Amino acid sequence: MSKTEKDLKEAFAGESQANRTYLAFAKKAEEEGYKQVAKLFRAAAEAETVHAHNHLRELAGIRSTKENLETAISGESFEFQKMYPAMIAGAQDEGIKGAERSFTIANEVEKVHAALYQKALDNLGKNEEHDYYICKVCGYTAEGEAPDVCPVCGARKVAFYKAD
Ligand code: FE2
Ligand code: FE2
Ligand code: FE2
Repeated sequence: MSKTEKDLKEAFAGESQANRTYLAFAKKAEEEGYKQVAKLFRAAAEAETVHAHNHLRELAGIRSTKENLETAISGESFEFQKMYPAMIAGAQDEGIKGAERSFTIANEVEKVHAALYQKALDNLGKNEEHDYYICKVCGYTAEGEAPDVCPVCGARKVAFYKAD
């Protein structure tokens, strides 16, 4: 890997993190009543997404939808088969309960994502239409309609919102 390819990966990771961090900061600013600051955080977050997408494009990381679904399936599968199980074990060893819970719920939801992507890949081109609902507590992603109780975190139906 060339230095520049490595730099693109690092910059993509950093810009992606800045996007999510700023959105979290915007939410906090709203809660604290700083509407203008919240707006600035959201604007900068959008700009960091532009940078992240530019870097990803230069990495040739955006391909056909069929290939992108395959990439997404292997990414989600790596997370629930290797990455999160090792992280959960590490958090248990170190007795860090919050991290253990955070890793565990993400691990459960990544399994669901891998399955949803696999289904979408299998049905690619069939023009099926479904809505998706996301649990705002744990990220559990439901196809069709929101469940009465989240199967991952136990939150009630009101915790779900519809994806765009
Ligand atoms: Fe940036
Ligand atoms: Fe995921
Ligand atoms: Fe949930």
